[in-house]
Amino acid sequence: MTNHGYASNLFAREQVVVTGARRGIGAAVARAFLATGARVFAHSGITKAGNEDELLAGLDEESRSRLTLAEGDLASEEGCLQLAAAIKAAFDRVDVLVNNAGTMLGRKPAAEMDAGHYAQVVDLNARSAVLLTGELIPLLARSGHGAIVNTSSISARTGGSPGSSVYSAAKAFITTWTRALARELAPQGIRANVVSPGTIMTDFHRRYSTPEKLTATAAGIPLGRLGTAEDCAGAYLFLSSATLSGYITGQVIEVNGGQLMA
Ligand SMILES: NC(=O)c1ccc[n+]([C@@H]2O[C@H](COP(=O)([O-])OP(=O)(O)OC[C@H]3O[C@@H](n4cnc5c(N)ncnc54)[C@H](OP(=O)(O)O)[C@@H]3O)[C@@H](O)[C@H]2O)c1
Repeated sequence: MTNHGYASNLFAREQVVVTGARRGIGAAVARAFLATGARVFAHSGITKAGNEDELLAGLDEESRSRLTLAEGDLASEEGCLQLAAAIKAAFDRVDVLVNNAGTMLGRKPAAEMDAGHYAQVVDLNARSAVLLTGELIPLLARSGHGAIVNTSSISARTGGSPGSSVYSAAKAFITTWTRALARELAPQGIRANVVSPGTIMTDFHRRYSTPEKLTATAAGIPLGRLGTAEDCAGAYLFLSSATLSGYITGQVIEVNGGQLMA
């Protein structure tokens, strides 16, 4: 498999967990870890919609031998705890945890918000990361250089676009919670950071944005195009590597082509 020029042994012998890894940003991140020598536990959700083969497409046998796959509904507490149990059964320690699963679950005008939709969005985008991380802290501590990288969003800072208020606020929760984790877990040698993608062309925007909106967005991005999932992967590798970012914790890397600078 192509490794996009990453050092092929950067994560050799490291044990990495990525949620939401079947497609989109999570798939690109999981593949980048495989290309750099890691053993990867790749979680996929239950939607089975979109490009399911993005994780496995063209993966050679040796990379496949370092990959463990598991499904789970992270919108439910039971699904989070079951996934944690499967990870504990597969790994004796966790060097890197990437909490990436999440999505908007449809645009909902603020005036039509109800308790059910609110709970679904917050449970999937915020509670799942809190529960899974809590379960895995002992395994991250066992690493000696554990790293947590959480996926937030540009919308955490801008508020997003109409119909995404609760999703955007849930992503802001992820950023603030990560800073709290960074402080609390530092004594155990665990770092916690955030990757905040801008407008990245995955199923997310194929579902939730019109072509006209995407064309207008691209026109306003200094680098002149929308992002790709592969554009995001390097930031996750950087923040996961004790060699490259061992003195960085509680920080956010914005991956957005200059769409937001502040
Ligand atoms: N694309 C963007 O422009 C953008 C921008 C900012 C932030 N983000 C964030 O980046 C992350 C990845 O987004 P993406 O664009 O690659 O993905 P996406 O196309 O929106 O797909 C959603 C991801 O979340 C998983 N997922 C959804 N519902 C789930 C559930 N109930 N239980 C477990 N997993 C579930 C999906 O897994 P399955 O497909 O296997 O079900 C998939 O990996 C998300 O947290 C998203 O909020 C994306």
